Amino acid sequence: MRMVDIIEKKRDGEALTSEEIRFFVSGYARGEIPDYQAAALLMAIYFQGMNERETSDLTEAIVASGETVDLSEIEGVKVDKHSTGGVGDKTSLIVGPLVAAAGIPIAKMSGRGLGHTGGTIDKLESIPGFHVELSREAFLDHVNRYKIAIIGHSQNLTPADKKLYALRDVTGTVASVPLIASSIMSKKLASGADVIVLDVKVGSGAFMKTLDDAKRLAEVMVGIGKSLGRRTIAILSDMDEPLGREVGNANEVREAIDILKGKGDARLTELCLTIATQMTLAAGVYAHEKEARDRLTDLIVSGRALETLKTFVQAQGGDPAVIDDPGRLPSAAHSIAVRAERDGFVQAIDAESVGLAAMMLGAGRKTKDDVIDHGVGVSIEKKVGDAVKAGETLAVLHSRTETAADAYEKLKNAYRIGDEKAAAKPIVYEVIQ
Ligand code: URA
Repeated sequence: MRMVDIIEKKRDGEALTSEEIRFFVSGYARGEIPDYQAAALLMAIYFQGMNERETSDLTEAIVASGETVDLSEIEGVKVDKHSTGGVGDKTSLIVGPLVAAAGIPIAKMSGRGLGHTGGTIDKLESIPGFHVELSREAFLDHVNRYKIAIIGHSQNLTPADKKLYALRDVTGTVASVPLIASSIMSKKLASGADVIVLDVKVGSGAFMKTLDDAKRLAEVMVGIGKSLGRRTIAILSDMDEPLGREVGNANEVREAIDILKGKGDARLTELCLTIATQMTLAAGVYAHEKEARDRLTDLIVSGRALETLKTFVQAQGGDPAVIDDPGRLPSAAHSIAVRAERDGFVQAIDAESVGLAAMMLGAGRKTKDDVIDHGVGVSIEKKVGDAVKAGETLAVLHSRTETAADAYEKLKNAYRIGDEKAAAKPIVYEVIQ
């Protein structure tokens, strides 16, 4: 088999065979296919797409490039949750303990943030003492004992995805549905859960800017799961404005604690309950949606979900006292308010710009080697639909430095204020299964 023939075939719009896809992925992962040929094929896929069978084959080949996690030593139906990435997305910190309190074992591997989107691992590491490395035995033992453990991605999982993603990043080939779907699903499949619940984001802060594109990505990922024997459910959710009211790391942990105390942003709570409902239904813990919602709400109201968070934090070396006293989390010395310049209504808050403002303060990474500052971030005081008066605070930058001109400009320009009250958007658009 020759790589050049495979490139020409896809360039001309033909479907690749399973053998050709395996030849490419395994050859590239082993370093036998050069970047220039891999890049040419990725660009051909970007323009010509892939059918369902090719996309599943690509996913399977990426999974086969590395180790897979065997979770069979954990009792019960293992359900994983994944978000396609957003701004202020702390749902894993809330949903994980919540469904664990409902009895579902959560054995989760999470990533770090890059660019304007944050990562669960960075957020957890803002808790003093918390560590995200556990041996395989300790990981399984924690899940069996405490029902939840969250660790960083193993280096040995899906090595082909790591190489391909890095190449896509510098060759303009990230935004391709089969490439995104196979990249995400390969990691989820290799991580070993029985059921996968995907939170597919749509809007200005997401990969997919339109509902149609997000729906297509969701359907392809659900299809991959089905064809590879893993039940997959996708929730389409809004990422046009930041999720919740905090963007950063320690401040997002604080918000997650608030939600588990039954306080805080209604849209964020609604999304978390929707994800948790789908996870518990798929695991067979509850019989129907109403029962799931009622019981999950009870777990919040009774404090059991919060107790599970505390146990989980302590088990992974974190200071459990932060749960009762979030003031122990890192914070920044300076608060810089961005104020409204006119009366009106908040019509839009560009999520990507808010994420970039937080990144400029040090809450996120411009390159993968950057070191995160856990105490900095952005608090959103006015959300879409809120009325504002000139001079009122829209949002606050939490900064290490007294001034933060670039981040200030970014955050200020993220807000659009007009005379009309914007129609409320749903937080959850659709559930696809
Ligand atoms: N997240 C991934 O893991 N892969 C992609 O291709 C895009 C988002």
